[in-house]
Amino acid sequence: MKSTFVLLLGGALCVLGAAMLAFTGWVWFGDWPSEMKEIVDHQRSIGERGAHTGDPTLQDVYARDHVSLGGRWQAVIDPYGRGDLAGIAPRAVEPATPSDLAEFSFENGLELDVPGDWNSQDPRLVFYQGIVWYKRTFTHETPPGHRSFLWFGAANYEAAVYLNGELVGRHVGGFTPFNWDVTDRLREGENLLVVRVDNRMRDEDVPTPMTDWLNYGGLTRDVLVVDVPETHVQAFEVGLDPGEPGLIRARVRLAGPGRDGGARLRIRELGIDVGIETDAEGRGEVRLASTPERWSPASPRLYVVEVATRRWRDVVADPVGFRTIETRGDEIWLNGAPIFLRGISIHDEALHGEGRVHSRAQAAELLAHARDLGCNFVRLAHYTHPQHMTRLADELGLLVWAEIPVYWAVDFENEEPLAIAKLQMREMIERDRNRASVVLWSIANETPEGEARNRFLAALADHVRALDDTRLVTAALITDPRELAEFFVYDYLPALVGIERDEWVYPVHDPLYETVDVPALNEYFGWYYSGGMAAVTPFSSHHARRVMIDHIDRIRVGHPGSKPFVISETGAGAKAGMHADEADLAVFSEEYQALVYRKQVEFFENQAGLAGVSPWILKDFRAPLRMYQGVQDYRNLKGLVSDEGERKLAFDVLRDWYEGRAAAEAL
Ligand code: GCU
Repeated sequence: MKSTFVLLLGGALCVLGAAMLAFTGWVWFGDWPSEMKEIVDHQRSIGERGAHTGDPTLQDVYARDHVSLGGRWQAVIDPYGRGDLAGIAPRAVEPATPSDLAEFSFENGLELDVPGDWNSQDPRLVFYQGIVWYKRTFTHETPPGHRSFLWFGAANYEAAVYLNGELVGRHVGGFTPFNWDVTDRLREGENLLVVRVDNRMRDEDVPTPMTDWLNYGGLTRDVLVVDVPETHVQAFEVGLDPGEPGLIRARVRLAGPGRDGGARLRIRELGIDVGIETDAEGRGEVRLASTPERWSPASPRLYVVEVATRRWRDVVADPVGFRTIETRGDEIWLNGAPIFLRGISIHDEALHGEGRVHSRAQAAELLAHARDLGCNFVRLAHYTHPQHMTRLADELGLLVWAEIPVYWAVDFENEEPLAIAKLQMREMIERDRNRASVVLWSIANETPEGEARNRFLAALADHVRALDDTRLVTAALITDPRELAEFFVYDYLPALVGIERDEWVYPVHDPLYETVDVPALNEYFGWYYSGGMAAVTPFSSHHARRVMIDHIDRIRVGHPGSKPFVISETGAGAKAGMHADEADLAVFSEEYQALVYRKQVEFFENQAGLAGVSPWILKDFRAPLRMYQGVQDYRNLKGLVSDEGERKLAFDVLRDWYEGRAAAEAL
């Protein structure tokens, strides 16, 4: 009896097991219902691809076969992040019948321009920090023998990319390009592309949530489908050999089955057409004697460099300038001669309230103001700007300081921000490694001195030097509170009561000075410190300002002096059109801003080892920290140009000084 029962039970269990197996198979491989399969595939893709931050980024995509996916995309603002539920948003599920209950739909709602930040496109999104889902469909047929990449110029801050309901990958970092090979994921006919963009930053992110710029969110730069032959040029670097400037050094990395088959380098105008052997990794290098005309601000000479696979099946052409950049003692030397950097700082924000720069025309408008100012240098702050800016800088002859947003109090104890910073730095260097204009990689801005920070930045500096041995490393230092107190107590305070000193010393003891090649300092004499002094003493702001203004020219920055030194920020705010008598020292008046600039110019001329300046800033910009209503209205007004392009009085002060310097250097 018992054995019969056991047999029956065993049999029943087998049948049940088989049924379960069949059901699972049916779910995985059958088409029941397809919605169910879609959800399972979607969930599986998240498990498989969740940590996939991108395939090696293709270089020079605009020089390749590509299709832009720009235009109007459907979008859904998702403040509570519910669109992920069962993949509703990634699969773009819409109600099919009147009885279907829907709580999410891309139809009949918001549309956003891509490329473009969302903040300047919809009043509900001006200060929005959260998730927005983007959706569009497209058709694409990969040519035979090719791979198709989905390429993003940038998306702020975290982007999760779904193709046909499945996760392709996630990218963190708001200002650098990333891509995935999606050849095997494309469908015949219509493809569904959904991107979840989240611009919220955590304390472990780079930057942190606290910044003095508007945290523009969205698909801020181009989205392209790029086709390349199976074997293709994945990346290349061409320039003068840093050790032997009489040689051109070319490095190439091929990808694909034929990557060890060799590459070609051609520079027609220099009569160069040579082969480059590549190893099993597709890497190759060649050095050859050549004397190209040097690229410089005075003569931004570019040569069309072509790099190709051995039989020219894949060819990338890029206009490249040849120059050397180095430090010698306390000078910066370009092409074997000292150069002074006549600069201006710039945020990646277009004029006329258009938000993040996403077109060449917007970049050109900004750089035209810098040129009119007499600049030969621009500091692209505080993150990687669009390549329109660096490519135009190549053409216009503007030297570039490029930076990643290690800004203020990053969580330096934590490994994660360092990994994110290293990724951003690598992606920036890989994108702009052939831009002659880019001469300085900046690893940080105004970071508080401390052991963890010093270690973090030393590691980042090593990372940069390992990736690029042809450029200089810099960082914007800030005088720490102890040093500032020293300056206040020994120099400023006595002067408030009429005790004069010939020289005021603004000390810089930051160990970062030793880590970088070109230490830089942000100082705001005439703007910030006086308010602080008036707040802690019985003196009026006017008196504190008067004394500071009258002494700026005797301040000397007390740095070790063994390296070229740059003033990376200085300036004052002014609301365009706001005027007052200069003697009133009225902050935010154009007259006061111009006065501060006149005094700063005197200060610059007294600094030994000063190799350049990039005052803060070319154009007023959106900044949520600036809540002085009726004046700032969430804008930082330190621009020399208003958002509408009006030039303030201080613009002429700096231009006149730069023109004078340029004329003297030309002699
Ligand atoms: C800092 C900072 C900038 C900021 C500027 C200012 O130095 O680096 O990001 O906008 O000061 O206070 O205006």
